[in-house]
Order: sequence, then C-alpha cells, then structure tokens
Amino acid sequence: MEKFKILGFAGSLRKASYNRAILRAAAELAPENVELEIFDLDDIPPYNEDLELHLPAKVAEFKAKIKAADALVIATPEYNYSMPGVLKNALDWASRPSGDNSCNDKPLAIMGASIGAIATARAQYHLRQTCVILNMHPLNKPEVMVGIVQEKMDGNNILTDERTRDIIKNMLINLVEWTERLKQK
Ligand code: FNR
Repeated sequence: MEKFKILGFAGSLRKASYNRAILRAAAELAPENVELEIFDLDDIPPYNEDLELHLPAKVAEFKAKIKAADALVIATPEYNYSMPGVLKNALDWASRPSGDNSCNDKPLAIMGASIGAIATARAQYHLRQTCVILNMHPLNKPEVMVGIVQEKMDGNNILTDERTRDIIKNMLINLVEWTERLKQK
C-alpha cells in the first residue's frame, strides 16, 4: 500500500533549532503508513518577483515537493510575536507565480517550540491567518505548542518529554484523518 506522504519544514535555519528537533520527533513518531520527509528551507533566496520567470532551483524543488505531498507539517518558531521571515518568505515563494499556488487545497498541521511559556501561540495564529489566502486547511486540534522547550529535550536535542511526544503522535493521526475527510468532500 502506498504510504501517506507528509512534507515537513521548520521556520528556523539554526543547526540546533528546537523546531527542527520537534519535526525530527514527528518523523520518528509517524504512524507506520506515514512517511514524513523533512525539507530544509536553507538556500531559499529572498522573494523577488523578477525571479519568477526562472524560479531558483531550490524554490522549484520546494514547490514540487509540496504539490506531491498529501499533507504538510510546519514547525514554526515565534520571532517578535509572529512567524519568522524565513518561513513567511518560503510560503510567499510557494504561493507564486500567480495561478500556481503550490499550497492550494493542502491540509496541514502546525506546531511550534519556544524557550518561552507562550509557546509560539502568536506565531501560530499568524500562520493560520496566512493559510486563509493560501487556501490551506489547517488542522484545529491538537494545537501543538511546546513551551519551555529546553526542558523537554535531552543533551542531543532529542525530544524526550512523553506528554509532548504523545501530542505530536495524536496530531499526525488526526492530520491523516483530516486529509481523508477533505478528500471525501
Ligand atoms: C525570539 N524568541 C521568541 N520567543 C517567543 O516565545 N516569542 C517571541 O516573540 C520571540 N521573539 C524572538 C525574536 C528573535 C529575532 C529571536 C532570534 C528569538 C526566542 C525563540 O523562541 C527561540 O530563539 C527559539 O529557540 C527559536 O526557535 P529555534 O531556532 O530553536 O527553532
């Protein structure tokens, strides 16, 4: 049986990124019938409409992978109460050229990790707002907001907090169900 394909990306380029770490945890915790591929946003240039005629290779690859995926998982840090520019920039590219929005009609799940207690809530709601114009279908529950994340990792940046691991596992199960429901429409 063909696997359910999820493309995951994190809005941080930092090697030791906690958001990259929770995405790796999601890939590890994915149900057996699910394949979660992680795409790094490194090397996606700043958006420039002049480049749309000849899309940068990394952008073309990103758009193709989004289109080929059954669903997406985005792990967003919170920068100054919103999503980081790196993530917004990647989504801006994915939405272009006009008429070729790679995100159109895609189901997605959102999660985020922060060293603070608010746990990326503000960034996640900004991201949900952007999903409206991109015509994406974000999963409502569970909301995965990992606060004080530094206390939930081991020394190798592996997510060890059992409660958070369970929530991520449930998020993936619900994302698959949500995608099936949307397909039946
Ligand atoms: C932050 N951080 C942060 N945290 C938060 O909870 N709310 C915020 O508004 C901000 N703002 C902010 C701005 C900038 C420019 C930076 C660099 C950081 C802290 C942030 O949560 C922390 O650095 C995370 O570790 C970033 O995610 P990664 O890189 O670990 O995935």
